[in-house]
Amino acid sequence: MRQIWFFLSLCLAVCSSQDESGRDSSVCISNNPLRIKCECEPHGSVNCQHKSIHNIDEQLHIPDDTTFLDLSRNEIITVPSNLFSNVNNLKELYLSRNLIGKISSNAWFGALAELELLDLSHNRLSELTSTTFQGLIRLRTLNLGNNYFTTLPAYVFIPVPNLEVLDISSTHGIVQIQRLNLAHFIHNHLVSLANNSFDQIPNEELSLIRSTLTVLDLSGLHITDIHNHDFFGFHALRMLKINQMPFLERVEVLAFSSLTSLQRLDMQDNPHLHYIDPQAFYRTIDGQLKNTPKEIYLANNNLTFISGSMFYPWEIDVLDLSGNPLECDCNLEWINHLPEVIDNIDSLICHGPAELKDEPVVMMSVINRDCAALQT
Ligand SMILES: *[C@@H]1O[C@H](CO)[C@@H](O)[C@H](O)[C@H]1NC(C)=O
Ligand SMILES: *[C@@H]1O[C@H](CO)[C@@H](O)[C@H](O)[C@H]1NC(C)=O
Repeated sequence: MRQIWFFLSLCLAVCSSQDESGRDSSVCISNNPLRIKCECEPHGSVNCQHKSIHNIDEQLHIPDDTTFLDLSRNEIITVPSNLFSNVNNLKELYLSRNLIGKISSNAWFGALAELELLDLSHNRLSELTSTTFQGLIRLRTLNLGNNYFTTLPAYVFIPVPNLEVLDISSTHGIVQIQRLNLAHFIHNHLVSLANNSFDQIPNEELSLIRSTLTVLDLSGLHITDIHNHDFFGFHALRMLKINQMPFLERVEVLAFSSLTSLQRLDMQDNPHLHYIDPQAFYRTIDGQLKNTPKEIYLANNNLTFISGSMFYPWEIDVLDLSGNPLECDCNLEWINHLPEVIDNIDSLICHGPAELKDEPVVMMSVINRDCAALQT
């Protein structure tokens, strides 16, 4: 939708600023006492982004047929409950990057039964109640990232039965989150809890949705170890992101074994991550050894060594090991047998031993002639 929006803006700027009737079509909101001017585009798009709006009320006169309303990047502190009472067809509402601190409990979203996307990220929200999202029965995407929650009560998301994408990242330290009750949240695709200060995988908090979740972002959490079966029960998960964890050091045996549907793991930019157990992915499906997902991104960690046996039986398509201080001894020789799988193998550099320092990993087999002898 963002791309479409961008394209439309571009076209309007370049193609024409007049509609068929010869009126200036680009400004459709202007007849309000606040002298706010917003641009409108075909198909009910209204753009009030970046207008220094700090005080809005129903006198803004949002056109009735608005389906897409962008009020982001203003200085809005409160949103009056009647603001949206006439825009019953609104599908997407962007309120990100304002100063909204509170959403009145008399459910100002109530009229928005058609709303599918609500972006409240980068505001100052510190609490939500069980009625905050009341009435948003078609809501599929909810972005609450970068706010100031410290707790999230259970049942907050009960009124939004069709939620698929939920972002509660960077909340300046969620320390308590009750079990995310998205029980009839059966279509859920993505939950992001990135950049919160959990010090363990929030398995319990996600226990009611873990069996249906397909994408989970836990980047930036304050975890040092990922333990045996930390992801117990996440059978549908296809993509897992564990990037930029400031304290992560180790991934233990069977850490990812429960992730039987995993297709892609992103575990990058973890400056202290130095150990991944050779059996971290070990799993069998119908008696067959499966091991790793098809795509694994491990760039910019502190790995000196990674076991080739971790990837057996080699059903992997992409493996990115760039930016790690690799020790190019015989234990790493397996890398040279997989040139088509290793992402950018030519740019992979040895950190040690001394005679191979700063040499490309592919030089390993030239210099370490005895590796082959060792393996036989
Ligand atoms: C987490 O915070 C870091 C540092 O502020 C930022 O670069 C990153 O984009 C954030 N990640 C997410 C998923 O919000
Ligand atoms: C990376 O690992 C090396 C030992 O292999 C250690 O000396 C160094 O401090 C580690 N770096 C970080 C950022 O943890």
